Amino acid sequence: MALRPYIVGNWKMNGTRAQLSEARAIGRAAARWPGVEVGLAPPATLLHEMASEVPDIAIGGQDCHFHPSGAHTGDISAAQLADAGAKFVILGHSERRAARDATGAGHGEDDSLIRAKAQAAQGAGLSVILCVGETEAERDAGRAEAVVTGQLAGSLPQGEHAAETLSVAYEPVWAIGTGRVPSVADVAAMHKAIRSALLAAYGDAGAMVRILYGGSVNAGNAAELLGVDEVGGALVGGASLTAESFAAIINAAAPLDEGA
Ligand code: PGA
Repeated sequence: MALRPYIVGNWKMNGTRAQLSEARAIGRAAARWPGVEVGLAPPATLLHEMASEVPDIAIGGQDCHFHPSGAHTGDISAAQLADAGAKFVILGHSERRAARDATGAGHGEDDSLIRAKAQAAQGAGLSVILCVGETEAERDAGRAEAVVTGQLAGSLPQGEHAAETLSVAYEPVWAIGTGRVPSVADVAAMHKAIRSALLAAYGDAGAMVRILYGGSVNAGNAAELLGVDEVGGALVGGASLTAESFAAIINAAAPLDEGA
């Protein structure tokens, strides 16, 4: 596949200004592999400083509101992310799609809200990483592909140029932060199904959308996962928190760019 590999770190609710040195080290590592596009999504508190201190990689947000401004306490708009130096935003992550659980975690975001956010983000000049993925119960019930294609049908941004600034991240919920990953065959089948959905939604432009794999990607399994057909990169949580582990994943993506 001739698309430039895209490796994105999602720091989630981790990191304070003390970790800016780690981000600078990630930036230096990324500069060694110019054939790999690298992004890092820190907590919003670090966005602006990281964007100015780490110019070699794209800095992004982890969520945004669908309105440009207004009375939405605690929320951040796409325009505000862009103003802080963000180039992209992750939307529809399973930790935001999840219903509020007994501990109070989860945000209950549904497909139509995620689509509205994606369209607002693209309208504000950000590119979007749209996350989809099934739960373990859904996979066990044989519904994984139906769930994921249903999420795409409901949440892919619409608009003439929507595909141009879009990536999709396939993240099985049961693989996130667990150390478990799907088989190569299951990843290949799901990415093929996602590609078909993108072609159906966008026509030829759907061929240029990178499809990332996410869920327990680490230095040890990255090369195998990135070698799967239609895997155009990775969305990395835990292993993106240190330059040492994240650089190894960026390194694993470098051969994918050969001949592209
Ligand atoms: P993980 O998280 O790499 O820690 O499993 C991935 C993600 O949630 O994007």
